[in-house]
Amino acid sequence: MNEKIHVKTKINDNDVEFLCEARQSLLEVLRDVLDMTGTKEGCNDGNCGACTVILDGQIVDSCLVLAVEVSGKTITTIEGIAGVDKLHPIQQAFLEQAALQCGICTPGFIVASKALLDREPNVSEGRIRHWLAGNLCRCTGYDKIVRAVMAAQENTK
Ligand code: FES
Ligand code: FES
Repeated sequence: MNEKIHVKTKINDNDVEFLCEARQSLLEVLRDVLDMTGTKEGCNDGNCGACTVILDGQIVDSCLVLAVEVSGKTITTIEGIAGVDKLHPIQQAFLEQAALQCGICTPGFIVASKALLDREPNVSEGRIRHWLAGNLCRCTGYDKIVRAVMAAQENTK
């Protein structure tokens, strides 16, 4: 029998409590326990960035974080990016620049891009490409994604 562990955390400004097994990843708990399926599972081994969330201000691959590790920490997922009644400028720019196709990688790119623009409001194309190097997309060819982040930074200042 797998004993469940009680975890208290904060997700998208809400106090959240859940029960999980010691072996479960944060990605697994977000999707399968909390029904927050915006965070995507790609490789499940830390290579694609589809599962990116912000944990205490740092971007992490949630498939590599044990859910028990987030006790007392603060998490932002893709569900916490948009405003109450409108998209975040990065989300809007992804739509306007057609920076997505299948969309599996998109939440990870948007969360990672938000973390970048929050800390560096004036970024070069090279810096964006370097920052997003851990996020893989098999559809878009990356140019539209980078263009979207460039466009979004004008609206996030
Ligand atoms: S699913 Fe986590 S890095 Fe690919
Ligand atoms: S839009 Fe399909 S993997 Fe990026």
